[in-house]
Amino acid sequence: SGQKLWGGRFAESTSTLVERFSESVSFDTRLYRQDIRGSQAHARMLGKVGVLSSADVEAIVAGLDGILKDIDAGRFEWKMELEDVHMNIEAELTARIGDAGKRLHTGRSRNDQIATDLRLYVRDVIDELVPLIDRVAAGLLDLAEREADTVMPGFTHLQIAQPVSFGHHVLAWREQILRDRARLLDCRKRMNLLPLGAAALAGTVYPIDRHFVAEQLGFDGVTENSLDTVSDRDFAIEFCFAASLILVHLSRWSEELILWSTPMFGFVELPDRFCTGSSIMPQKKNPDVPELVRGKTGRVIGNLNALLVLMKGQPLAYNRDNQEDKPPLFDTVDTVTMCLQVYAEMIPAIAVKRDNCRAAAVKGFSTATDLADYLVRKGLPFRDAHHAVGSAVAYAAKKGCDLAELSLDELKGFSSLIEGDVYACITLEGSLKARDHYGATAPVQVRAAIARARASGAS
Ligand code: ARG
Repeated sequence: SGQKLWGGRFAESTSTLVERFSESVSFDTRLYRQDIRGSQAHARMLGKVGVLSSADVEAIVAGLDGILKDIDAGRFEWKMELEDVHMNIEAELTARIGDAGKRLHTGRSRNDQIATDLRLYVRDVIDELVPLIDRVAAGLLDLAEREADTVMPGFTHLQIAQPVSFGHHVLAWREQILRDRARLLDCRKRMNLLPLGAAALAGTVYPIDRHFVAEQLGFDGVTENSLDTVSDRDFAIEFCFAASLILVHLSRWSEELILWSTPMFGFVELPDRFCTGSSIMPQKKNPDVPELVRGKTGRVIGNLNALLVLMKGQPLAYNRDNQEDKPPLFDTVDTVTMCLQVYAEMIPAIAVKRDNCRAAAVKGFSTATDLADYLVRKGLPFRDAHHAVGSAVAYAAKKGCDLAELSLDELKGFSSLIEGDVYACITLEGSLKARDHYGATAPVQVRAAIARARASGAS
């Protein structure tokens, strides 16, 4: 095996098995852009404080630009025996520009280098996820607007509870994803401090200017403590938690869409291009996309667990264990990105079957609470009203009709307080309209919520 950048104190070369066991270049090449950006900022800083000549700095910056171009173009040869992304790039730089390349690592360690690369990477990822979440949220807002007047059963215990506006339901989804968006930005803010300068663990003897590097790389400041800096992966864990919660939300939406697209519910039709058929049953149209989102959620939660367990036994400061943070982190990034992309594309194409939604709400006696509230307004104590309406529901169920289909005489049999004005309360539309305050389901309130969202800049 080849010359190691750290080979000076070793009497024999690394076992090939150990090289294969310990390499990370098979997965950490994904950090090359961040690695190069960080190295260029580090070199410029070394020039500024007089540790490197300006000729060396120029050679390093230009050499790294050339390497970046070659990697982008797929022209770079990664070598397993060079272990990781950092040493592959550094070795190539030296091959191209000579001694200046060997001076790049002055005052730096791979320990603060990888911490910097990873923070830059997670920050870049968040900056791509936020606009994607905005697309999902915008789709939900449009769907809510289209279906503000659509009545569907609201559920508790998955039993029909009270009528709600379909628009109200998807605005609930939107609240979930907006909290996720805020969590990502919060995580970004906390992680946006520069690790470089911590060096291996204790700092460095060179007169470095960490704030200068921070500014070049768009960090809000520098980390406080060198020992903490090289051992801290909290930001990756926080990100994986935020991603897990995004997927928990998408998984819950998926569960509802899967149920709603069965013939038994029949509330929505998913577009053909998001479904697949069966190899044996000709009639099948399966909601594979929401099912896969629900399934991938398990993997991403597993990745979060992997990172938590990875960290729990580590003493300060850097340990090689940390190299294992990358596969779960990268898998989480890929999965959450793809799931959000799929949802952003699918939401505008969800067709709502309004008649079926309405029919389901009728069938479930979803206005029973409204009848009880009606009796309360006529002076009956709520508990007595609850009991009287319970009897009316049992009667209507036996007869096979809705409460609003009972005659006034039949209804009066359950309470003499009931008059002709009852029908305005116990129809689905009457029930919906009556829940008329901030945050409730009346279509006028759903429209007000949409207007507030649009006024606050949401598209
Ligand atoms: N590949 C390593 C990682 O991902 C880089 C840091 C290695 N540092 C060391 N002292 N071996 O964490």
